[in-house]
This record gives sequence, C-alpha cells and structure tokens, in this order.
Amino acid sequence: MNLKDIKSQFPIFKSNKNLIYFDTANSAQKPIQVINALDDFYKNHYANIGRAVYGLAARATANYDNTRETIKEFVNGSDGEIIFTKNSTESLNLVAHCFGKFLKEGDEIILTEAEHHSNYVPWHFLRKKKVNIKFIPINEEGEVQVDQLTSLITNKTKMISIIHVSNVTGLTTNVKKVISIARAKKIPVCIDGTQAVTHSHVDLKELDCDFYAFSAHKIYGPTGVGILFMKNKWVEQFEPFNGGGGMIQNVDTKNITYASGVSKFEAGSLASAEVIALKHAIKFVKDIKIKNIVSHEQSLATYALDKISKFNDIEFVGRPSDKGSVFSFNIKGVHAHDASTVFDEDDIAVRAGHHCCQILHKKLKIGSSLRVSFGVYNNKQDIDALCESIKKCKKIFKLK
Ligand code: ALA
Repeated sequence: MNLKDIKSQFPIFKSNKNLIYFDTANSAQKPIQVINALDDFYKNHYANIGRAVYGLAARATANYDNTRETIKEFVNGSDGEIIFTKNSTESLNLVAHCFGKFLKEGDEIILTEAEHHSNYVPWHFLRKKKVNIKFIPINEEGEVQVDQLTSLITNKTKMISIIHVSNVTGLTTNVKKVISIARAKKIPVCIDGTQAVTHSHVDLKELDCDFYAFSAHKIYGPTGVGILFMKNKWVEQFEPFNGGGGMIQNVDTKNITYASGVSKFEAGSLASAEVIALKHAIKFVKDIKIKNIVSHEQSLATYALDKISKFNDIEFVGRPSDKGSVFSFNIKGVHAHDASTVFDEDDIAVRAGHHCCQILHKKLKIGSSLRVSFGVYNNKQDIDALCESIKKCKKIFKLK
C-alpha cells in the first residue's frame, strides 16, 4: 500500500477537504474498511454475541472471537490472554482494582513521572488501603530514568506499572530493561502500550510482561474497545471486575460461580460491531506494515522538529532523542489554547493542554503544551501548513 495515496482511504478528509489532523495520539481517524465493516455488521449480520444459539448470533459470536486471533497474531500474544474492555483506561482500572485486592498497608507500586492519568489514578485509589506509590523520575528531556528503578525497589514492591511510549514527548521507555529488573525480583509488570501499538513493533512474547493495555480507537479502529493482555496466571487468580451476564457459570440464590478464562472479565453486552471492525483496522495496518509506518512517522518528526526549531520562541516539552509519532511544544508567551485556536482557523487540529499528564508537565515546569501527533495520513505539506500557522500566530501575538 502506497502511503502517498493513503489519505484517499479516509472519508474524513473527503468531507473536510482542508483538514490537517495532528491528533492521532488522541484518537486516529478511521479508514473506509473499518467504517464499511461497522456498516456491514449492523446492516447484514447484527445479533448480540455470546448469548443466543440461532445462526445469526452464532456467526456474530464467532466473528467477534475471531478478532482475538487477529490481535494475537498482530502483537504475538498467547491464547486465552486477550480481554476486551472499553478502552485502555478501563483495562488499567481492571488491573489496579483486581491486583489491589492482594495488597495490604505498606505495599508499594512503582510508576513513572511520565504516566498518563489512566495509569496513575487507578493506582492512586489504592492509597485508601495505605498502599504507597513511588515514581521513577524523568529528566529534563522527559526521559524515564530507568537506571533509578533498582534503588526504588524494596521487599514491599508488589507491582511496576509503566508507560511504553509517552503521549506527550513521544519518548519510548526502556520497558525491556524494566521487565528484566522486575523479573529478577519476581515483581509483575503492567505496561500502558496505548501510544506504542502501530507506532512501533510490539511483540508481547518477547516483552514477557504480565499485563499490556492498548485501545482500538488509537490504531485506526472503532471507539469503545480496549485490549488487555493478561498472563494466564492472573486470569486464573483475579476475581471478576464487573458482574453481570456472560461472566458466570452457575447462579443460585446463595452462590455464584464464574465463567473460566477471559469471559470472567467480559460482563454484559459487548461492543460486538466495534470488536469485529477492529479486525479490519489491524488488516489495514498490517497491509501497510509497521516498519513503513515507523519510518514514515520518524521522517515526519525529523522534518517537523527541524523546521519548528528554526523559529524563535519555541520551547519543546523535553526533547525527544528518539523521534517518534508524538512531540509537544510551546510558543513562548502564547498560551497553548490560544495557539491551538489560531491553528484551528487554518483547519489544523492540534491538541492543547496537559494531555492528561499533569505530573510530567509539573516536573518540567510547564502549565500546558501544544501536541503534534502523526498518523499514516500526515505528510510534509501538513507540517509546512503548521509552520505557516505558527508564523501567523507569532504575528498575532506580536512575537519576532
Ligand atoms: N490519551 C489520549 C491523549 O493523550 C486521550 O490525547
């Protein structure tokens, strides 16, 4: 598949002819294949899954379950370890809540200062039972100082939960090193891979972590679906997260037994159309090939960072040393929301704010920032247009 013509596969760019979309880290636009799959399922194949035995429902259930196979191959996961949730946030809440049941006062969890709130707030809830949270610091460049991990570990450390790729700086945490340090001390590791999948090569067997979370809507798939990999030993040990239909084995007025395997975590009617359409998003990504996406995004990042750094009054949030799919910056003297509003007048979508990462922003002494994130549909002309908009913004705010 040729990336030059890729925009034509995204209907959003037909109905919004001038749109320049730099907010893929927030949510990716959807290719026609994914939209068609949703449409086809609702029009021609719809039935609730996992319940009825008639043909339509049985076929829908098989189609839904088959997405697990597609995901398993895509990130080299293992059978029986893929749970569908609503999003990465729900996946991380599930892990923190279920794992938290094993914890007691004084136990410790290690996170990093680069976490998205979705991998901090769920662990923060455990402070109610006097669990302590420690943070691997970031340096001025925004890099997670993995070398400091060993000194944070004590015999009370029960879990290390870390971001794979920062949604603000785009920096990749050395998760392999974290996992190897944790393994040696028999500490489980949970990884928030939300910004890593489709922007880098993710191989779960190679990583060998206990939990890995990512979201369908950020990988060109539909909203409402999170993917949580959970090692089998935790699938067996964890109590269910939500109760309801579909997660039970036997119910009577006194006792309930739960379904075995991942079904235990998938209560209620599920996002069947969205899970089925996710398969088509993964096929779309596989057809392009991860290595082509990575090199496309790296070349865009190099081009953008070089061009934007030539302006006076630009401050980057950290300085990504390995250029990836995301970076953030500020125009000195202009609030990020104001700059984003100026860009919006030129149909350029750039997220402004703290990007759900207040700890990182506070550590780097920044209130908010402008974030540029790339998808397969971006090109160098998009970056040229952004630079023109930066020029315009500087003029409005009377900067040189
Ligand atoms: N996690 C999403 C972002 O960073 C919402 O924009």
